[in-house]
Amino acid sequence: MSRLAAEHNAINLSQGFPDFDCAPELRALVTKYVNAGLNQYPPMAGVPVLREAVAEKVEALYGARYDVEHEVTIVPGATYGIYTAVAAMVRPGDEVILFEPAYDSYAPAVEVNGGVPVYVQLTYPDYAIPWQAVQQAITPRTRMIVINTPNNPTASVFSAEDLRMLEGMLAGTDVVIVSDEVYEHIVFDGHAHQSVARFPGLAERSFLVSSFGKTYHVTGWKMGYVLAPRELTTEFRKVHQFNAFVTNAPLQYAFAEHMKDREAYLGLAAFYQKKRDFFLGALDGSRFRPLPSRGTFFQNLCYDAVSDERDTDLAVRLTRERGVASIPVSVFYREPPQHKVLRFCFAKSETTLARGAEILRRI
Ligand SMILES: Cc1ncc(COP(=O)(O)O)c(C=O)c1O
Repeated sequence: MSRLAAEHNAINLSQGFPDFDCAPELRALVTKYVNAGLNQYPPMAGVPVLREAVAEKVEALYGARYDVEHEVTIVPGATYGIYTAVAAMVRPGDEVILFEPAYDSYAPAVEVNGGVPVYVQLTYPDYAIPWQAVQQAITPRTRMIVINTPNNPTASVFSAEDLRMLEGMLAGTDVVIVSDEVYEHIVFDGHAHQSVARFPGLAERSFLVSSFGKTYHVTGWKMGYVLAPRELTTEFRKVHQFNAFVTNAPLQYAFAEHMKDREAYLGLAAFYQKKRDFFLGALDGSRFRPLPSRGTFFQNLCYDAVSDERDTDLAVRLTRERGVASIPVSVFYREPPQHKVLRFCFAKSETTLARGAEILRRI
């Protein structure tokens, strides 16, 4: 959709990346560490100062202490972290529970490692987790469950009750969890992010994956981290060692220093909530109906009052004919559902959002 948007000079509210730059201080720190000559292979698990900064943040926010030496690994992006966790854990024939709709990297990561995805559909239109269906999907062959809160593409978030349900359900099993928390700092309306780190019965079996890209407006840098108990991290690093091996050194030093400014991540939810509300305000009076956006930087709009078209057709037509690009939510399912929903990214300047919303209001 980004390519189509560029071809047609459309307002691009499709792919999930900001159209504004990162903090100038962060850019200056990268320059500082590149010029300081920190340009050779860093330690495999990540530079100690950054691992420490991550562990301190997680302890302060979620109350769990991860051991810097054995339980924290810096990786080249969350997608890489997820893939590596799957490759370390999943053997041919193992079942992996995935929710639908889901971020598109999960199923291929499972399948290429010989695993069998077992899908549970989130309910529509509230995108809640049908816990009874999850319980039924768990079998003796279940090796892993992949969860993602705040959720892309639905913009829903898990409640503490959701995580307690999962904790109870997995007690006594050896199922491991990959918890994709790349939007951990973007939860709206005063709610707290429910990390697996808050729940001992989940943390003990989880790979907690996050991304610097989403938090610091640098998706192109591809950097993230993975926290997991020692036994899981040992397996994780066996794969990491012979794949990427290390993650970009000067950027790690830059983030370690930049993370001292807690406001950069503590203020992120308010920053994006303002953008969400601006976009919704600009859409007021439109026939596109907003679904709740409780986290992430996505706003889903239901178009059942606008058109009968499939979402894939409408998304292309809106880009070509009206000049605004979005993502059809059905592409995040194996079998396209009948729902009429397009996903719009509001990690954009107010000018871009106002122009996009104005086009939608006229439809
Ligand atoms: C749910 C989810 N996980 C992971 C990622 C990717 O993170 P990274 O760029 O750090 O690989 C994204 C990016 O869109 C995402 O939405």
